[in-house]
Amino acid sequence: MKFFIDTANLDQIKEAQDLGILDGVTTNPSLMAKEGITGHENIKQHYVDICNITVNGDVSAEVIATDFEGMVSEGEALAQLHPNIVVKIPMTKDGVKALKYFSDKGIKTNCTLIFSAGQALLAAKAGASYVSPFVGRLDDISTDGLGLIAQIRLIYDNYLYDTEILAASVRHPMHIIECAEIGADVMTGPLSAITALLKHPLTDIGLEKFLADYAKGNS
Ligand code: E4P
Repeated sequence: MKFFIDTANLDQIKEAQDLGILDGVTTNPSLMAKEGITGHENIKQHYVDICNITVNGDVSAEVIATDFEGMVSEGEALAQLHPNIVVKIPMTKDGVKALKYFSDKGIKTNCTLIFSAGQALLAAKAGASYVSPFVGRLDDISTDGLGLIAQIRLIYDNYLYDTEILAASVRHPMHIIECAEIGADVMTGPLSAITALLKHPLTDIGLEKFLADYAKGNS
């Protein structure tokens, strides 16, 4: 499973990259605003900075336009910023047309704001490179977010769609583990969810004992 980090924070992206397990980055307009990145040119520069950290990974850059023509011109400009840019497009009628347009041109896309299997099926038919079902936001409204990942996995496997399932809105380590069990191709989550995978109290206790025993024998 590929690990993407869901942030526009450069320090956190560097930390995940230094860990050696990072395969890409997802951002969205809210994450950009959280880092205080505003204005068209600053946002574009920030995407380039992110791409320069994650040299081998896909970096999703989201369009703001909601009409087909606007998505196409904005997406083409984003795609030209760096070879790692994936154009992130919302699941709307114009968004589906834009996915098809970019797919025909060989430009990678990530269809965002996926909340149903039908939306994921449409995005795959339009040639999306990734679909982003939002696991956490479905859980937030008492709906089974991981169940949606399983449903999409079954549908894509039935028809051998190439579209990768990018489990998004991942909030904690159990989301990551369950996505891996189901067979999501990618997960994107915060650094805290990724580093939480490291932790087990028995590892800490065991290491402490090994070091104490070593110190006894070598003092
Ligand atoms: C996906 O690409 C989104 O950026 C993200 O995963 C949304 O997560 P949230 O529901 O925690 O805001």
